[in-house]
Amino acid sequence: MNHSRITGWGKYIPEKCLSNLDIEKFVNTGHDWIVSRTGIEQRYIANDDENCSMMAVKAIEKSLEQANRSASDLDLIIVATNTPDYLVPSVSSIIQHNLGANCPAFTVVTGCTGFMYALITAHQFLATGAYSCISIVGVDTISRFLDWNDRTTCVLFGDGAGAVVLEATNKPYGIISFDMGSDGAKGMQLAIPGFGSAVKMDHAMLNRGDQFLSMVGSDIFKFATRIVPPTIRKIVDAADLVLNDIALFVPHQANIRIIESATKELVIDKEKIFSNIHHYGNTSAASIPLCLIDIVAQKRVNIGDYLCLVSFGAGLTWASAIVRWGTHLD
Ligand code: UT7
Repeated sequence: MNHSRITGWGKYIPEKCLSNLDIEKFVNTGHDWIVSRTGIEQRYIANDDENCSMMAVKAIEKSLEQANRSASDLDLIIVATNTPDYLVPSVSSIIQHNLGANCPAFTVVTGCTGFMYALITAHQFLATGAYSCISIVGVDTISRFLDWNDRTTCVLFGDGAGAVVLEATNKPYGIISFDMGSDGAKGMQLAIPGFGSAVKMDHAMLNRGDQFLSMVGSDIFKFATRIVPPTIRKIVDAADLVLNDIALFVPHQANIRIIESATKELVIDKEKIFSNIHHYGNTSAASIPLCLIDIVAQKRVNIGDYLCLVSFGAGLTWASAIVRWGTHLD
C-alpha cells in the first residue's frame, strides 16, 4: 500500500475584512458578546467578483506552486464546498477548466467536514495506486447565504479557500487512521432549505427566508461536543498511538467554546490545540485547510509530527484523521 503526503498548500482569503465592530453597526449584537461566546473577532467576506470557483482556483494554484507541480500533473481534483457557483454544473468542473487541468473532478457536500471527507477519499485513490497526485480544496462563500439581519448566524461565518496537494509516497507519511460518520436524523438543524428539489422555488420560498442558512445553534453545539472526544479516541487507538503522541490537535473552527469543551474531557494541553477562529470566523469547508496552512506558516509542525484533524458540521456529519506530517522537502 502506498502512503499519501501533503506536498503543497495554498489559501485565498477575500480582501474585505468585517470586524465585530463593523457588524455592530447594522445588527443588534456586540463585540464582547461575539468574542466571549465564540472567540471570533473578525471574518473575511467575498466581494461580488469573488465566488467559490474563483477562490478555489487561486488557492489551488498556490498549492501547486508550493508542491512544484502544475495543473497538468493532477490526476484528480476534489472540491469540498457547500456554496458552489451553481447547483449544476458542478463547481469542480468549473475549477478544473479554469485551472487548465485535464483530469476528473468532483464535489463533496458534507457541511464543514467536506475537506476531511475529501482528504480521506483522496487518500484511498493514492493508497491503491490508482492515482499519484490529487488536489483537494475546501472552499466556502457562506456569506452569500446569510441573513445579515439574523444575529444568531451572521456573526459566525467567514469566506475563504484552502487547498492541498496530496501525493503518493512510499514513506510512512500522511493519513495513518481516520473516522467518518453521518447522522441525518437532525440534519435540518443546520440547513439552507431553499434551492433544492424539496422546495419549490417561488416568492413564498424567498419570503420564508429559505435561501438563508438556519441553525439551531445550541443543538449543534451539543452534537459537536459529544462527537469530538470519541472520534479522537478512535483514530488515536487505530493509529496505535496515545494522546500524548499527538503534536497538535486541529479542530474545525466553529466556536472556541466547542473546542475547549470538547477537548477538556480528553485532558489535552491547551498549547497543543490550534485555533485561528479569532481571525477567520467559521469558514466551513475551508476551516481545516486554513488551519493547516497557518500551522505551517507559524512553524508549529515538524516532519514526522502527528497531527489530529477533527471536524463536524451539517448533515450532521463528522470526520477525523491522524496525519503524520511529511512533505516533499524532507
Ligand atoms: O460549523 C458547524 C456549525 N456551527 C456550529 O457549530 C455552531 C454551534 N453553536 C454555537 O456556536 C453557539 O450555539 C452559538 C454561538 C450559535 C450561540 O451561542 P450560545 O451560547 O449557545 O447562545 P444561545 O443561542 O443560547 O443564545 C443566548 C442569548 C440569546 O438571548 P436570550 O434568549 O437569552 O435573551 C440569544 O438571542 O444570546 C442571544 N444572542 C446574541 N446576542 C448578541 C444570540 N446571538 C447573539 C449575537 N449577539 N450575535
